[in-house]
Amino acid sequence: MKIPVGILGATGAVGQRFVQLLADHPWFEVAELAASDRSAGKTYAEACTWRLPDAPPEAVGKLVVTNTDAKFRSRVLFSGLDASVAGEVETALASRGHAVISNSRNHRMDPDVPLLIPEVNPDHVEALPVQRKRTGGGYIVTNPNCSVMGLAIALAPLHRAFGLDSVAVVTLQALSGAGYPGVASMDIADNVIPYIGGGEEEKIESEPQKILGTLEKGAFVPAPFPITASVHRVAVSDGHTMAIMVKLGRRTSPAEAARVLAEFRGEPQERELPFAPRRPIHVLSAPDRPQPRLDRDRERAMAVTVGRVRADRLFDLKFEALVHNTVRGAAGAAILNAELLKARDLLP
Ligand SMILES: NC(=O)c1ccc[n+]([C@@H]2O[C@H](COP(=O)([O-])OP(=O)(O)OC[C@H]3O[C@@H](n4cnc5c(N)ncnc54)[C@H](OP(=O)(O)O)[C@@H]3O)[C@@H](O)[C@H]2O)c1
Repeated sequence: MKIPVGILGATGAVGQRFVQLLADHPWFEVAELAASDRSAGKTYAEACTWRLPDAPPEAVGKLVVTNTDAKFRSRVLFSGLDASVAGEVETALASRGHAVISNSRNHRMDPDVPLLIPEVNPDHVEALPVQRKRTGGGYIVTNPNCSVMGLAIALAPLHRAFGLDSVAVVTLQALSGAGYPGVASMDIADNVIPYIGGGEEEKIESEPQKILGTLEKGAFVPAPFPITASVHRVAVSDGHTMAIMVKLGRRTSPAEAARVLAEFRGEPQERELPFAPRRPIHVLSAPDRPQPRLDRDRERAMAVTVGRVRADRLFDLKFEALVHNTVRGAAGAAILNAELLKARDLLP
């Protein structure tokens, strides 16, 4: 018997990825879909402007979309809700006993909500008993911002091996990161926009420290290194590219750093979770990689790709990283979080 799950924000860019990625999942089965009042009452096929290859599975296309006030039967709810509503809706559903596995930014920095990357900080789920005491049973688990996903995975092995002193990052972010219809075509064609709303730079400058920090007596203690970020929207469909510069606690060679990155593994790999990439980081040696079109789909888009690991004369090292923003950076991340929670017997 598969575990029935619901998808909140099912009609959006992230919601559609959930539908696509959960189609043949060995443990979970899509049973309920919710979105705004604009979609409620329609079948999913009618309500959704499907933007992915192929069609949604027939059975899912026939499900009737509800609004988020519905009484959900599924204990596990994935959320790709717009941030304008995600905060209140997710809080209400957790207090009704659901496990809300969310992509939205609203609860990421809450003091008892894990900001989880299963390879990096699986033990942060130990904050859940504290949260469950507050909610009365259910809980919220979040995954990071889509750029932070690639950044934090690339920083984690360096932080462990050498310590991080400071980090600078410049992002080149794909169009799908803005949802659908997203940025107007007349604004982005033949163009780069050096601004992303919704506090993108602030998220990139604060979420990695929570992820790479520790949990002490039920409280998160952020890692102390500072990050500075500059973000750009570029005319790429999927895949966020980042130029990352790091100053390390203990200096090392680019070759040693590349080895540490390539050998990085975590609990999802040990447990062989269904969505776990075999190698979370692929380190490429070609001087012109990673590139979004060529590298974003590695390991079903769940691997982060790193290239051009080299010495830097202001920082110690610099390199490029690429993450598929709607898979590893959103829906795939939440599914891997749910798999970790199931493997640790923490699903309600
Ligand atoms: N795109 C990415 O790469 C990415 C990555 C990581 C995290 N995220 C986060 O994931 C969330 C969804 O992003 P997205 O790109 O999928 O956005 P999107 O394409 O705009 O989709 C938003 C979804 O929220 C629903 N919604 C909007 N207003 C609502 C309301 N008042 N009540 C209930 N549902 C409502 C929409 O339903 P209708 O169709 O009925 O309007 C739609 O299903 C955001 O919080 C975003 O920050 C996105």
